Amino acid sequence: MAAMAKSRSRNNNSQTLLNSLLSKTESGTLTIGVVGLGYVGLPLAVEFARKGIRVHGIDVDAKKVASINRGKNYIQDVNSEWLREGFKAGLLTASTDFSVCAECDAVFICVPTPFTVNKDPDISYIISATEGVAASLKPGQVIILKSTTFPNTTEGYVQPILERSGMKAGRDYFLAFSPERIDPGNQKWHTGNTPIVVGGVTKECTEAACAVNKLIIDKVIPVSSPKVGEMEKLLENIFRSVNIALVNELAQLCDRIGGINIWEVVEAASTKPFGFMPFYPGPGIGGHCILIDPYYLSWAAREYDFVTNFITLAAEVNESMPFYVRAMIEREIARQPIRLEDATVLLLGVAFKRDVDDLRHSPALKVAELLMQDNVRNIEYYDPFISSFVINGRKFTSKKELTPEVLRAADVVVITTDHSAFDYEMIVAESKVVVDTRNACKPVSGEKSNVVLLGDGR
Ligand SMILES: NC(=O)c1ccc[n+]([C@@H]2O[C@H](COP(=O)([O-])OP(=O)(O)OC[C@H]3O[C@@H](n4cnc5c(N)ncnc54)[C@H](O)[C@@H]3O)[C@@H](O)[C@H]2O)c1
Repeated sequence: MAAMAKSRSRNNNSQTLLNSLLSKTESGTLTIGVVGLGYVGLPLAVEFARKGIRVHGIDVDAKKVASINRGKNYIQDVNSEWLREGFKAGLLTASTDFSVCAECDAVFICVPTPFTVNKDPDISYIISATEGVAASLKPGQVIILKSTTFPNTTEGYVQPILERSGMKAGRDYFLAFSPERIDPGNQKWHTGNTPIVVGGVTKECTEAACAVNKLIIDKVIPVSSPKVGEMEKLLENIFRSVNIALVNELAQLCDRIGGINIWEVVEAASTKPFGFMPFYPGPGIGGHCILIDPYYLSWAAREYDFVTNFITLAAEVNESMPFYVRAMIEREIARQPIRLEDATVLLLGVAFKRDVDDLRHSPALKVAELLMQDNVRNIEYYDPFISSFVINGRKFTSKKELTPEVLRAADVVVITTDHSAFDYEMIVAESKVVVDTRNACKPVSGEKSNVVLLGDGR
C-alpha cells in the first residue's frame, strides 16, 4: 500500500511538472538553452528567438559566443537578419558559462560526435556538455540530446550523469533524444519544415520534448524510446552511405566495361516512378555525418558479436574513391610530356559538397593529400567558400578568382566539388584536361574530349 501511494505521488509529481512545462510552451514563456552553437545548434537557437522565445546559447568557443553577443552570424545557413533581430530584442544571448542552464526550462545538447584516428566513436563532447548541464539540473527541466550517436548513449551515458543529482528522468526531470536532420545548403528543407523524431526515456519525457520542439517545428514524430531515435538517425545516414557506395562501385565497373555511362544509367533508372531513388557517384563522401556516423553503429555492434557488413563494405568503397580519382588525375598527367612532380593540378571546389563552406572530412582534401604523397608539388585550388586549409603542415590558399589564365596554367583541372557559381563553359573551354568527378560539365562539354568524367565508361 505504502509503495503504491509513493509511486502515485511520484506520478503526480511528474504530471505536475509536465503540466507546468506544457503551460509555459502554450504561452511561449519558457527559456531555452542550446549547448553547442555550430551548424546544428545555432539555427535551432535562432529559430526559437524568431518565435519570440528567450534563448541562452552555451559554447566552449569564446569567439562564437562573442560573435552572437554582437548579433553577428558565422554560419552560412543561418539568416543573419533573424540572428541580429533576436539579439537586438534581447531574446538571444550566449555564454561560455553553463550556469545559465539554471534559467532554462529546456536544454538542447548539439555538440560534435567525431571519431578517433582509429574510427571509434568519441562521445567525450557529449559527456562534458552533459556534465555542464548536470551541474544546474532542476526539477521539471527537459534535456534533449541532438548529437548523432550510437544506441543507448542517452540512457547509458547521459542519464547516469544527470542522475548523479539524485533526480530521476520521467519523475523529476525529462530526458529525450531527438536527432537533427538539417541539410546545410538545402534551400527547400530547413529547421522549421523538416519533420523530426523524438524518443523520451518515459512517455512524459517524450511528451515534454515533443511540446518544446513543436514550438519551432511543424511536424514532430514521437517514437517509443531514445534508442529508437538513435538508431533511426543512423539508419538515415547509413542508407545514404550504402547507396552512394553502390553507385560508386558501379561507376568503377562502367569505366572497366567501357561504353556505359553511369550518369546516364542513373538518369534512366530514375524514370521508374516507384521503388528507385537516385544516388550519384563522386570523389568520396565527407562532412560530419555520412562518413562518421556509420562507424558509430559498427563499433556499438561489436559488443553484441555482430559485424555490420553493409556498413563496412560501403565505407570501403566510398573511402577508396579519392584513390580512384588520384589514379584518374595521374593518368591524365602521364598522357602529357611532363613529370608527375612538375605537373600543376588545380582542384575546383574543396568543400565537402556543393555550395557549402564546410570542409570537414572533404574528399578533396584526401585527393590533395594523396597527390602530395606522390610528390606532386604544384597543387592549387579555387573555392569561393574556403579561403585556405592545411594538410600535413602545408598551407593551401585559394586562387582569388577563376580566370582563363588560372585554368590554362594547370596541366589537369579537377572538379572535386560542383559549386553552382563555377563557369563550367569557361572551365571546359580554357582547360587542357578536366577530370570531372561530379558530372558538372555535362551541359557544356557534350562530347568534348578534354573532359574525363568519372564513370563514363570511356
Ligand atoms: N552539420 C550537420 O549537417 C549535422 C546534421 C545532422 C546532425 N548533426 C550532428 O549534430 C551534432 C553537432 O554537429 P555540428 O555540425 O553542429 O557540429 P559543430 O562542430 O558545427 O558545432 C558544435 C559546437 O559545439 C561546441 N562544443 C564542443 N564541445 C562543447 C561543450 N562541451 N560544451 C559546449 N559546447 C561545445 C563547439 O565549439 C561547436 O561550436 C553532431 O553530432 C553531428 O553529427 C550534424
